Amino acid sequence: MSSVVVVTVDGPSGVGKGTLCARLAEHYGYHFLDSGALYRVLGLAARQRGILDNPVALTDLARHLPVRFVEGKILLETQDVSDTIRTETVAALASQVAVIETVRAALLAFQQDFAQAPGLVADGRDMGTVVFPQATAKLFLDASAEVRADRRVKQLKNQGLDANIDQITKEIRERDERDRNRVVAPLKAADDALVIDTSDLSPEQVFNQAVAWIDRQQVSREFAV
Ligand code: DC
Repeated sequence: MSSVVVVTVDGPSGVGKGTLCARLAEHYGYHFLDSGALYRVLGLAARQRGILDNPVALTDLARHLPVRFVEGKILLETQDVSDTIRTETVAALASQVAVIETVRAALLAFQQDFAQAPGLVADGRDMGTVVFPQATAKLFLDASAEVRADRRVKQLKNQGLDANIDQITKEIRERDERDRNRVVAPLKAADDALVIDTSDLSPEQVFNQAVAWIDRQQVSREFAV
């Protein structure tokens, strides 16, 4: 894994991690790990199987999660769940299963296997702290709950869906609270991560800051060896 470049991007939901990671993966020609999608698929699969309250069965499912990423689609067994997993309901299920330590441990090796040459951009909550502590470059994006809720509402409206700003802000706060305060792998910036507050930045500005940081980290690594 050490010869493969790994860029980690952590932060709460709605800070623009997905947009940034897709652009970074394209810019560098690296693979992409959407770790949130794994927790979302697990939450959805657990609900379908009626095992949300059973940590042992959940852990077993996480160990053998029948998920595949095929041509931009996310498959749970043969079911295309790419859209289903993006709902707020499934996000809440994901956040709920993600607090279980044995579940996180079960998904660890699966996530680490995504680090393939020439490199990986990993999007999540604990990419720089737990899954890839030796990453080449770490970023942590943040933004106020209000800004994130506002972006989410615009996104939903663009998809022709109804959205209530107060309800969305409340859901974002609750999910943040759970992700930041959980005992295992809480959402927090790694000590060596560049923290970017995206509240007043355009996606372009975030991308430029990220690339400057990643390139600098890569150069300093090359000089260090
Ligand atoms: O990034 P996302 O919104 O798709 O993540 C959904 C949930 O999954 C999030 O509330 C917390 C959990 N998650 C996690 O615990 N660790 C990760 N690396 C990624 C997501």
